[in-house]
Amino acid sequence: MKIKSLTKDMIDEAIHFVSAHRFQPYKEYEIEDDRFAEFTKHVLSELSSGGENLVLAAEEGARLVGILTLKKLAWDTDFFGMDMFDIDHIIAGESDDKHGVASRLIQSMLKRLRERNGGIPHISVRINTEDIPTVHELERHDFKLMTTLVTYSFDVAKQKMIDFDAPCVLRDFTATDIQTLRQISRDSFTSNSVATNRFVADASLPRDRVERLYSAWVENSCRGLADKVIVAESDGRPIAFTTCKLNPSTGKFLNKSINSMVLSAVSSASRTRGVYTNMINAGLEWLYDKSDAVEVGTEVGNFPVQKAWTKLGFKIIRSQYALARAPQVMGGNSRDV
Ligand SMILES: CC(C)(COP(=O)(O)OP(=O)(O)OC[C@H]1O[C@@H](n2cnc3c(N)ncnc32)[C@H](O)[C@@H]1OP(=O)(O)O)[C@@H](O)C(=O)NCCC(=O)NCCS
Repeated sequence: MKIKSLTKDMIDEAIHFVSAHRFQPYKEYEIEDDRFAEFTKHVLSELSSGGENLVLAAEEGARLVGILTLKKLAWDTDFFGMDMFDIDHIIAGESDDKHGVASRLIQSMLKRLRERNGGIPHISVRINTEDIPTVHELERHDFKLMTTLVTYSFDVAKQKMIDFDAPCVLRDFTATDIQTLRQISRDSFTSNSVATNRFVADASLPRDRVERLYSAWVENSCRGLADKVIVAESDGRPIAFTTCKLNPSTGKFLNKSINSMVLSAVSSASRTRGVYTNMINAGLEWLYDKSDAVEVGTEVGNFPVQKAWTKLGFKIIRSQYALARAPQVMGGNSRDV
């Protein structure tokens, strides 16, 4: 088996190979094959154009048997002050030797990073919970489980929205809310969280940075990262927020507009009164006529949000493990490469 960087002459085979993989996100929506291939072409061409990204192919004879793509996370790198990457695809196809293919792809990635960067950066990955051979190979190469994620989807063609009496005012955010939203976000995802998220679980990330990550995330959402930020208000003060994000590439390539609600939290003093359920309903209302489906995701242990989603008509469609590998400088543990 040979591992090499994907070359132009292999691109069509790679598109077909990735598109045929059953664990690709959005496959759940029964997208036609040629549409999914167009979407994959777009994703692979974006990945190939990033200077520090890797797109690796495993070949047996002249046959493609595996693909690994690695993306530089520019914002995260800057924020945490360490090189950070994300594995977007790790696919060992339907090969009889899935373990061998996944293992060779991971080893080659680590070797290339070590040679290029003088060490191995922080690497995160999400992997379908049914792809056990690949999970075991990641574990063998020092990736550690951080959390298990579930994604729910609201199918606009099949589900009706429900009417509720909101226990609070729901409105768009204003610039004067940002300081309070930063505090609610930091507190809700660290000291007063319901489930341990992948950043808090990751011992290689400094805790004070993770706290600031959640403040920065909601502020950036207000400053344009999100397409809509809804705030719940009680006695004239913000007590909760949710963010909505449009994903135009799904409409363009898959002919299905699949949008999402990304970051939401309720201040610890205002919980269990239905604020979250109503706020998500308001987000859904905004997204409803712009979407074929609306996705929301969380840690499997976050029961309150899953109860709310089920009540609102969302259905579970995806489950993934989130793993990460701590950075290693040259001279550290080098048994993998
Ligand atoms: C999770 C969170 C958003 C829930 O907000 P909330 O306003 O308390 O939620 P709601 O009052 O709408 O309750 C939703 C459902 O969860 C239940 N619930 C709320 N808190 C619960 C808890 N701690 N344990 C178990 N069930 C709980 C409610 O009873 C309700 O279920 P029901 O309709 O069957 O009675 C809030 O606790 C929070 O901000 N947590 C930290 C950040 C977070 O997890 N954000 C979401 C990430 S996806």
